[in-house]
Amino acid sequence: MSDVPRVIEIERLAYPSTWPPSAYRKELQDNRWAHYIVLRDKHILEEQSVVSAEPEKLRKARPFPLSLLPSRPAVTSPSPSLASILGFAGLWLMVDEAHITTIAMHPNARGQGLGEFLLVSLIDISYNIGAKWVTLEVRVSNHTAQNLYRKYGFREAGVRHRYYSDNQEDALIMWTDEINSTSYKQKFLELKAALLQKLETK
Ligand SMILES: CC(C)(COP(=O)(O)OP(=O)(O)OC[C@H]1O[C@@H](n2cnc3c(N)ncnc32)[C@H](O)[C@@H]1OP(=O)(O)O)[C@@H](O)C(=O)NCCC(=O)NCCS
Repeated sequence: MSDVPRVIEIERLAYPSTWPPSAYRKELQDNRWAHYIVLRDKHILEEQSVVSAEPEKLRKARPFPLSLLPSRPAVTSPSPSLASILGFAGLWLMVDEAHITTIAMHPNARGQGLGEFLLVSLIDISYNIGAKWVTLEVRVSNHTAQNLYRKYGFREAGVRHRYYSDNQEDALIMWTDEINSTSYKQKFLELKAALLQKLETK
């Protein structure tokens, strides 16, 4: 729940229109079929934890009588825990279908395989919660996301006309094959292994 403000911040940078701020809280609190994840950069988490501990250390070390002087106004920066969030994603389980509701990376963190890592994590969750298929809607103009989905075996199954209310754009409906089929599972595991290797060498 404490990650929601940063998720909303990234969502605003990633999408032309956004969910109402209360939506994520409701999803986490009330929707037992919803699964949401955030992707954290542990280096940012560690570095910023050190930086944010500094003023406190300096204040304690300041010798008397300087310690009586008012300290400098605090610089407000996001907590390390929030600043370390680079992306987020979620899905709903509807009977045996995993419906991806959102997936977004901070614009500064794109193009490194991390959006792919989020998608892999959602597919892993789909396996763990007993989904048989994974589906989503994507703007017809969003070729970046479509490429990512096609890489993971999503195929077009139809169009929802004027699905997006901000510009009346159509949505492509995309589905995977059965994720438990031998062919899908094998392909998924190969792609996942290649991605993890790529991320580890960075
Ligand atoms: C879609 C999104 C999550 C992808 O994240 P990313 O971290 O930039 O993507 P990755 O670096 O993991 O790339 C994974 C794949 O996406 C596709 N892709 C990524 N950037 C691309 C680009 N600039 N052009 C075309 N395809 C691209 C490729 O298929 C790529 O695989 P490859 O490296 O084997 O070519 C990200 O662009 C984003 O947050 N977009 C805004 C929100 C959004 O549109 N979400 C989808 C809603 S349906």
